[in-house]
Amino acid sequence: MSRKILLENGDISGIDQFDIYRQHGGYQSVEKAIKTMTPLEVVDEVKKSGLRGRGGAGFSTGMKWSFLDRKSDKPRYLVCNADESEPGTFKDRYLMEKIPHRLIEGMIVSSYALGASRAYIYIRGELMWLAKRLENAIGEAKAHGLLGDNILGSDYSLDLVVHPGGGAYICGEESALLESLEGKRGYPRLKPPFPAISGLYGCPTVINNVESIAAVPWIVTHGGEEYSKIGIEKSSGTKLISASGHINRPGVYEIELGLPVEEFIYSDAYCGGIRNGRTLKAVVAGGSSVPILPAELILRTAAGIPRLMTYESLSDGGFQTGTMLGSGGFIVMDDTTCIVRNTWNFARFYHHESCGQCSPCREGTGWMEKVLHRIEHGHGTPKDIDLLVDIAKKIEGKTICALGDAAAWPIASAIRHFRHEFEYHIAHPDKITDPDHVYQPMGTK
Ligand SMILES: Cc1cc2nc3c(=O)[nH]c(=O)nc-3n(C[C@H](O)[C@H](O)[C@H](O)COP(=O)(O)O)c2cc1C
Repeated sequence: MSRKILLENGDISGIDQFDIYRQHGGYQSVEKAIKTMTPLEVVDEVKKSGLRGRGGAGFSTGMKWSFLDRKSDKPRYLVCNADESEPGTFKDRYLMEKIPHRLIEGMIVSSYALGASRAYIYIRGELMWLAKRLENAIGEAKAHGLLGDNILGSDYSLDLVVHPGGGAYICGEESALLESLEGKRGYPRLKPPFPAISGLYGCPTVINNVESIAAVPWIVTHGGEEYSKIGIEKSSGTKLISASGHINRPGVYEIELGLPVEEFIYSDAYCGGIRNGRTLKAVVAGGSSVPILPAELILRTAAGIPRLMTYESLSDGGFQTGTMLGSGGFIVMDDTTCIVRNTWNFARFYHHESCGQCSPCREGTGWMEKVLHRIEHGHGTPKDIDLLVDIAKKIEGKTICALGDAAAWPIASAIRHFRHEFEYHIAHPDKITDPDHVYQPMGTK
């Protein structure tokens, strides 16, 4: 079993309560940072750690922090992205539910590093019970002088606010999140300017995923260099993986980056193999947005090298033969899975969640959903496959935010690796189980 950083002490009964969390070393990083370090020294430790953002893009957290405009006389903000709406990803809610104080501790120490005196946790609106749990943890930290005015008797003060999300996948995109937090419709903003220069209310802002922020207490307590020794290559540290689908042991696992994919799927310490003794067909490794890979390419790269759970290894081969670690939503499919049906299902999601601001995404996602629906239900034509590839190309890279890419990649990759299944559906409409299924976009009755 790999070491625990994010879920350290997670199995101790009552660890969600302040006293128990504190007895097991909780809030040490706040004591250390505020009493013995300058904010820039904290930023330096995070840089040294090599921590990369766990929200999906994998951008260096220390680097992002160092872009923050510290010369501006405007207030600075830290915003925690707890919107977690990517299909297949459910690790942030698990972490917040199990050890809410780890996130609160991370928010305090990160806000101190950034010089923010107000910070927000923007939490998925459906998780109101969890928002209350976080508010309760905030109240406990405040009562013990770790939050609020003059933390631990210092001149540093922090107001931490939990804000429920707007109920749309797009609100997880950082600039749409800021719009939503400002009380507006969650439309992504054009960049530049980037949030580090002009973010919340036009002020310098850092936005980080729950898991990124929750790694900071360990980094500050033990040092960035120690953290950088965990993991492999440019993928340092541990990562939470949400494992779902046709496996024996679905759940959230904290892995040390560098673990072989094969071990993750088949070892009893993790997924425990494919359910009912069936065979592996395909994996979506980083949440629904990343390219799907067939069994042979998820286990080994095109060059035959065993694939590892790292940013580099999973993307080896680019989009021709590789994928992405993304947010770590690991969806496993066995040989009973219909790739066409699965692709249609993803397409429905992205069509429903497109905010409609950019026409390639607004029109293209609906079009792809309709074409996939007719292929899946026995009304496809041979031209439809290339039509899908063409629409996907015309969305990718042509929208304000990456939702367009997220909609295009699963479809393009499914056709790249499983074209024969699409062709089979078109050639054998007689084998389709529900040809009279009426086209009904998601969200309509
Ligand atoms: C459509 C869309 C949805 C997103 N949803 C989330 C989300 O739910 N949680 C998250 O942390 N990042 C999400 N992101 C990524 C954020 O825009 C941003 O990169 C991330 O919060 C930065 O945090 P990190 O650097 O710690 O990874 C989404 C991006 C896009 C394009």
